[in-house]
Amino acid sequence: MSKSLTETEPLLYAVGLSKSYNTKTKEVRVLTEASLEVHSGEILGIVGASGSGKSTLLHILGGLDRPQGGNVFFKGENIFHQKNGFLEQFRNRHIGFVFQTFNLLPDFTALENAMFPGLIANRDKILVQEKAEELLGLLGLKDRLHHKPGELSGGETQRVALARSLVNQPELVLADEPTGNLDSRASQDFMDLARKLNEEMNQTFVIVTHSAKIARSLDRVLQLADGLVNPIGKDLIL
Ligand SMILES: Nc1ncnc2c1ncn2[C@@H]1O[C@H](COP(=O)(O)OP(=O)(O)O)[C@@H](O)[C@H]1O
Ligand SMILES: [Mg+2]
Repeated sequence: MSKSLTETEPLLYAVGLSKSYNTKTKEVRVLTEASLEVHSGEILGIVGASGSGKSTLLHILGGLDRPQGGNVFFKGENIFHQKNGFLEQFRNRHIGFVFQTFNLLPDFTALENAMFPGLIANRDKILVQEKAEELLGLLGLKDRLHHKPGELSGGETQRVALARSLVNQPELVLADEPTGNLDSRASQDFMDLARKLNEEMNQTFVIVTHSAKIARSLDRVLQLADGLVNPIGKDLIL
């Protein structure tokens, strides 16, 4: 995973992804032949009705789940055709995840939560702490380092989750409805911070959202429908 990209090569691309879930009574086909590209330095939006498979798609792109058909390439490498243990390392080093429900550990402070992926990666604790403090400061949480999630607002909690997703300096952040549990003010703050990270650090994001307002503010938007991914014009986002 040390390869550098040519200017036109996507950071990540997926071809022909298919995914079904087998429940006791029926087979649910979620993705039929989903293909997409994510380019370095962009903020890509993904929209689609509830249940259309947005989370499923994002999990596959980040190597949290496997498709039944199709492939995902990151920097030209097929992430599903690698040795055992590759995916854990891939996720930890190259991908940052932000979820709708934040998923912070309640008994640990903001700083400890943000440090977590760095410690899992066995990086030097002092360096990880410095990076986590820098990110939390950048995200306006300098005075909240030692607060636990229960002592933070929803918006602050999500910003800690954003700091955590960035602590290993991943090339790509995958965010699954990151503003879904935030009020409009906190949602806007979150998106402003994502934009700032994008502009100042060239951070690449894929953001799943059901907010038309947020989707319209993104560089490029894809719509997931009937198991397929297609570009959608901003005027068509409802
Ligand atoms: N583990 C699972 N087992 C069975 N069905 C699932 C599972 N995960 C998701 N589904 C179904 O797959 C479809 C897509 O789910 P999801 O990817 O979560 O959609 P979205 O994020 O767009 O709301 C839904 O119909 C959902 O009920
Ligand atoms: Mg979802």
